[in-house]
Amino acid sequence: MASPNQSSSDEAKTISETLIPELPRERGWVVDGDIHLLNGFWYPKWVIHGLLALQHHFKPHPNDVLLASYPKAGTTWLKALLFSIVNRAKYNGIMHPLLTSNPHELVPWLETYASTNPTNPRPPDSFLFSTHLAYPSLPEQIRSSSSSCRIVYVFRDPKDVFVSFRHYHNKLRPKESSSSSFSLQEAFDQFSRGASPFGPYWDHFAGYYKASIQFPNKVFFVRYEDLKTEAVFHVKRLAEFVGWPFSEEEEKEGAVQKIIDFCSFEKLSNLEVNKNGSFIRNLETGRMARFINHAYFRKGEIGDSKNHLSEEMREILDQITQDKFNEIGLI
Ligand code: A3P
Repeated sequence: MASPNQSSSDEAKTISETLIPELPRERGWVVDGDIHLLNGFWYPKWVIHGLLALQHHFKPHPNDVLLASYPKAGTTWLKALLFSIVNRAKYNGIMHPLLTSNPHELVPWLETYASTNPTNPRPPDSFLFSTHLAYPSLPEQIRSSSSSCRIVYVFRDPKDVFVSFRHYHNKLRPKESSSSSFSLQEAFDQFSRGASPFGPYWDHFAGYYKASIQFPNKVFFVRYEDLKTEAVFHVKRLAEFVGWPFSEEEEKEGAVQKIIDFCSFEKLSNLEVNKNGSFIRNLETGRMARFINHAYFRKGEIGDSKNHLSEEMREILDQITQDKFNEIGLI
């Protein structure tokens, strides 16, 4: 006889299996497979499994911190920073887990974990998680103003996000896959009309931005570019927001700068683990994918899109961004 957990897991799977074929679809980018339009956002199949499991079964804890991002907006960097901030009393420089593990191994990705653990989709032993889900797709248990779970969202110029995603796609795609002949123009068209994985990019950031205005104690919105240029200021704000503010003494001792240096692109990308390591992720039951660590570190610069996109492409993305900024009042 099936256990209650088994039947509830089967039920969630059945819902998504019957739902997915009905949804509009587009070509996915990274791991082969289509993306599907669910309530305004484009997700791979396993993400929809995970999303439904989270909506039904996720139980937030009061001190949970959720790092939300569109892929390639700075997730790896923010994972390293948040992990270092909240664990700074625990690890000294020598034994620090970031020296031997990629940030993605230390901060679990919620929807992939949920897709393989649908009845208990809370990764064990952690209160720091990440997600690429759009704000309206998050479980109500997390969004609710009665939950004290905090959300950090990192935004990045979409031109650089697109270029970064494109490089990542080229590194990770299976060579024999149908997406191997996916041209820059095709990817650009898909991204700019909003039909990219986890997109539309502009609706993704707009959801979190509006939530950060409505619930400033719950949602923290930071730009990748600002973190690069004013790191100390923003890392201090970030630490305060997640409930681990730097004391005056720590500031005097240079603890903020130490964390910034430790999590810098130069430091992390030159670690052996990030040059040659990899990790395996269960995307869905019975389906594992190997992720190579160096794919998360390319240039880490502002404005690299000018080296890869035509003037016209850049103008198109800038115009969409400006229109969205005007719509939501972001300057
Ligand atoms: P580029 O491809 O423009 O270099 P994500 O972590 O969301 O997948 O995003 C990856 C992007 O963040 C890549 O951008 C990567 O180089 C950059 N990145 C990774 N670690 C970083 C760090 N410590 N500081 C700044 N940028 C970083």
